Amino acid sequence: MENLVQQLEQYKNEIAAYEANTAAAVEAYRIKYLGTKGIVKAVMGEMKNVPNDQKKSFGLLLNEFRQIAEAKYETLKAALTGNQTEPAETFDSTLPGDVYPLGSRHPISIVRKNIIDIFHRLGFAVAEGPEIEDDWHNFGAMNLPADHPARDMQDTFYINKNPDWLLRTHTSSVQARVMEKQKPPIRVICPGRVYRNETISARAHCFFHQVEGLCIDDNVSFADLKQTLYFFVQEMFGKTVKIRFRPSYFPFTEPSAEMDISCLICGGDGCNVCKHTGWVEILGSGMVHPRVLENFGIDSNKYTGFAFGMGMERICQLKYRVNDLRLYSQNDVRFLKQFTSAR
Ligand code: DAH
Repeated sequence: MENLVQQLEQYKNEIAAYEANTAAAVEAYRIKYLGTKGIVKAVMGEMKNVPNDQKKSFGLLLNEFRQIAEAKYETLKAALTGNQTEPAETFDSTLPGDVYPLGSRHPISIVRKNIIDIFHRLGFAVAEGPEIEDDWHNFGAMNLPADHPARDMQDTFYINKNPDWLLRTHTSSVQARVMEKQKPPIRVICPGRVYRNETISARAHCFFHQVEGLCIDDNVSFADLKQTLYFFVQEMFGKTVKIRFRPSYFPFTEPSAEMDISCLICGGDGCNVCKHTGWVEILGSGMVHPRVLENFGIDSNKYTGFAFGMGMERICQLKYRVNDLRLYSQNDVRFLKQFTSAR
């Protein structure tokens, strides 16, 4: 029995000194001491050889030894996990994923896309121009005389005087940009943001959006203008909508007309959107002034054209019944999320 006691002491020292830095070494320890053919099992097996009167004290010794061996195994295992820079398994693939809220399109973007799609079917391409313009493209080329009130500082945001740079006041400036580069046949629409020096209220804003249209070719007549816009309105608002043209004046068209559509809010009965007239103005239009064509070297005896410009906010207002212009630029999600992201 002396031997066994000595043997146990030796094993205990070995266990105390045992070092294991890798999973394989820890496993080797387990097999050596705690495995089915391991040392703990072997010394336990010695119990049967112990005389009865010593069994109790030996039992205690052996139990203590087994506990030491097992505790060391737990220590080695724990040290190994702690050593690893990346924990072995922290990714739980069963957890639900992060939900990112999907935004919706801005109503102006939806309407712009609708307008582009409709005119696309009539062969109109999209053209764009700069929002910071010079006097020539915004005013001069469009036949606005030097003393025209629109050129006044009170109406237009100037960035520089002499040479004059300004924030374009209408998308008609893009007509000039197009005619500069392209010769007839021309068929473009020009969506974009425009700026005017206005006090902000529910009905006016210092910036808003327009879509310009320009069509120049042989034999383009006022009938083409009417038919094109009639097609647009029916596609945009439905077949029951009526249109009417009222004579008007714009320096860049002759003759000029404003176009109204029957009020979609009250169906023509009269409400505050149509100011109780049953009609809502949606655009200005006309036959391109010969002087505008000549400004770009387009022969006005050979070519004619029509042009129009409409406000996108107005189209939005009729489509979505939004009656405060400020809502379009306040970025209030409670407003914005009401519009479908589908289109
Ligand atoms: N540029 C005009 C405006 O901002 C709108 C307009 C009227 C555009 C007639 C045109 C047009 O192209 O022919 O009020």
